[in-house]
Amino acid sequence: VMNQTQKKVLRIIEDLKEHLSYLKLFGFQEIPVEIPSLENFKNDVSKKPLTNMSLTLSEIKEELGDCRRCKLFSTRTHIVFGVGNKNADIVFVGEGPGQEEDKQGVPFVGMAGQKLTDIIEKGMGLKRSDVYICNIVKCRPPNNRDPEKDEIDACSSFLEKQIKAINPKVIVALGKPASSTLLGRNVAITRERGTWHSFQGYQVMLTFHPAYLLRFYTNENRRLVWEDMKKALSAILTISNQSKKK
Ligand code: URA
Repeated sequence: VMNQTQKKVLRIIEDLKEHLSYLKLFGFQEIPVEIPSLENFKNDVSKKPLTNMSLTLSEIKEELGDCRRCKLFSTRTHIVFGVGNKNADIVFVGEGPGQEEDKQGVPFVGMAGQKLTDIIEKGMGLKRSDVYICNIVKCRPPNNRDPEKDEIDACSSFLEKQIKAINPKVIVALGKPASSTLLGRNVAITRERGTWHSFQGYQVMLTFHPAYLLRFYTNENRRLVWEDMKKALSAILTISNQSKKK
C-alpha cells in the first residue's frame, strides 16, 4: 500500500504528464515558464501578489498620457492605445498604427484591420469586441515603416502592462515585428508561425500579419493562418476546461 506522500507524488507525476502531453498536442516546442527578470527581484520588497501589481487599462492609459517618450510623437495625429474587452481571453498584438489608425485613434481599422476583423469574426466565430487588439508601438511610424528599436523600447513596458491588466489565456502575435518584440529575439515568421512560445508566462501563438496575407493572398497562406487560429482557440478551450475542473 502507498502512504499519503507516495500518493501525492504519483498525482503530481500524473498531472505533469497530462500537462506535457497537452503542450505537445498544441504544438509547443518549448515549455512556457515565467522567468522573473532581475528587475522584478530587485523591486520585490513589498511581497505584493502579482494581481495587485497590475494596473487597470485606464490607469495605464493615464500613465502613457500625451506620450513623448520617443520621436514618433512628433508625426502622429492620435495615440492608438488599444481596443476591446478588458477581460479578453485573447489579445492580438500588431506592429503599429497605419494611416487610418492614426487618424481614428483605433487599432486595425484600415485594410489590414478589415482582414483581421474577418479572421476574428468570420473565421474564429468571435466578435471583435470580445477580444483585445493593440500594437507594439502606439504611434504611427512615418510612411508605415517598421518601428525602430528605440521606439519599441520606449513603448514595450506599456504593452507588457496592458497584457498583465487583461491577463488573457492566449496572445496572438501578428507578423515578425510583434513576434520578435514579444519573444525578445529575431523571429523568422515564415518558419516559426504556428508554434507556441511564451511571454511573461503567457502562451503566444505566432502567425502572419493580416497585411502580409492581403499582399500574398494565396489559399496556402489563408490555410496556414486558419491553422494557427484553430490552435489558439483550442488552447483557450483547454485552459477554460482545466480551470473549471479545479
Ligand atoms: N497594422 C498594424 O500592425 N496595426 C494596426 O493597428 C493597423 C495595421
